[in-house]
Amino acid sequence: STYAMILAGGSGTRFWPLSRDARPKQLLNLFGTDTLLEQTIQRLDGLVPRENILILTNAKQEAAVREVASMLPAENIFAEPAKRDTAPAVALGIGLVAARDPNATMLVLPADQLIQDTSAYHAVMRDAIATAEQSDGLVTIGIKPTWPCPSYGYIERGSRASIPGLDCEHPPAEVQRFREKPSVELAEKFLAKGGFCWNAGMFVWSLPNVIRELSTHAPELSHFISELRSAKDLNATITAQFPKLTPISIDYALMEKARRVLNIEATFDWDDVGSWISVAKYLESVGNNNRVNTAVAEIDSENNIVFNARKGSQVALLGVDDLIIVQTDDALLIANRHQADAIKNLSSKLPPEL
Ligand code: GDD
Ligand code: MG
Repeated sequence: STYAMILAGGSGTRFWPLSRDARPKQLLNLFGTDTLLEQTIQRLDGLVPRENILILTNAKQEAAVREVASMLPAENIFAEPAKRDTAPAVALGIGLVAARDPNATMLVLPADQLIQDTSAYHAVMRDAIATAEQSDGLVTIGIKPTWPCPSYGYIERGSRASIPGLDCEHPPAEVQRFREKPSVELAEKFLAKGGFCWNAGMFVWSLPNVIRELSTHAPELSHFISELRSAKDLNATITAQFPKLTPISIDYALMEKARRVLNIEATFDWDDVGSWISVAKYLESVGNNNRVNTAVAEIDSENNIVFNARKGSQVALLGVDDLIIVQTDDALLIANRHQADAIKNLSSKLPPEL
């Protein structure tokens, strides 16, 4: 059967002052609609049954995740006892799914992406599932790159994969190499060479295939999975063993090394909502003039993004352009729109409770 594991334990520092440790971007109401986590769960309707959707998060975010994910069985939500990045989280998820169905096909999904064309998403994911079930490869989803962004994984697509019996609309390619977060200079070379796509951060694999690859390339994680599978007391094993795992992302721990990686090109829209600029782009696309939760009184002001989460307060702008202005109950951000990516650097200057 098909399972989905949603990774919802990342911290968000690029959306300060709205995002905090206990409320990173997947739990924010950034668009005046559902949170990204809620959208990620709803997007699976018709693709993965709700009882097969697992969410992995951490203790700080657990309460907020449970509230947003109340449509899932409560026992499908797990809080990791320590923050160890995505490879240990994925290993934990593999162990949990293996206990239910050792031959399951599993989708690993980030919780913080904006995808609007659900039917194109389903069509691509169905082909990814078929590819994962009928081959010995680990399936990735590729996004057409638009600039040499250093915060993504880069996938070099090779020839069309030959998978006997596979009949699908979005044919997979063999991956020549997977390179996580290259420097801008290297990313520029990749784009100049051509044939590269961004890694969407979603993976589709069968449990036997991924467990085999982990045992070759990430023995610590495959050992942890075996411990989970033979555990008498699962929670006690997680509490004792998980914090000992080395912090590393699944991209470095497995995807850069795996023997056979396949790639299917996404035909849906994709935005990983990296900063307030992504929010602004979305708001423009729906005809909103970059205002969330607020009316703005303004004169001679252009290109400002205003997000006002403080009830009953008014924002007024006079003669200022290109600003990001975010107001919450306990903080105010005024930033240059062209430095949206650097908002994360503010966290080192802020008092710890913020
Ligand atoms: N449960 C859990 N535990 N989830 C985590 C943890 C953790 O310790 N750390 C991160 N996550 C979640 C995040 O909330 C997010 O949903 C997902 O895992 C991916 O983690 P990010 O930290 O956002 O990864 P990234 O954006 O730097 O890179 C990944 O995504 C890119 C696309 O957005 C990589 O897969 C890149 O290759 C990819 O291009
Ligand atoms: Mg991310």
